[in-house]
Amino acid sequence: MTKKYKREEVARHTDPNKSILIIVKGNVLDVTKFVAEHPGGADILLNYAGKDVTDIFESIHSSQAKEFSQKFIVGKLV
Ligand code: HEM
Repeated sequence: MTKKYKREEVARHTDPNKSILIIVKGNVLDVTKFVAEHPGGADILLNYAGKDVTDIFESIHSSQAKEFSQKFIVGKLV
């Protein structure tokens, strides 16, 4: 079953040594292990840790990047 998250809970996951969560289109993504590999750089991803990145994520990325992002989904917003 998919885990349900509240926004306040996602907002606490901003520590790269623990976990980095972001929200895209109502889905919660765990990008902790991906930060160092992000083609757009680790810093920008860390700046958005714990946040709803839907608008910026959708406007910046290729369809392949959007497809690839699906594998990071760990749950949904309540
Ligand atoms: C699971 C989450 C993410 C994945 C899988 C991902 C993946 C990628 C990939 C594959 C690229 C290379 C270009 C492309 O194919 O579009 C890229 C570039 C980039 N990403 Fe992400 N990204 C993620 C989250 C974010 C977030 C939250 C931001 C925040 C703004 C961001 C900002 C950027 C920027 C600025 C670039 C560089 C664009 C360029 O140089 O043209 N990404 N990302």
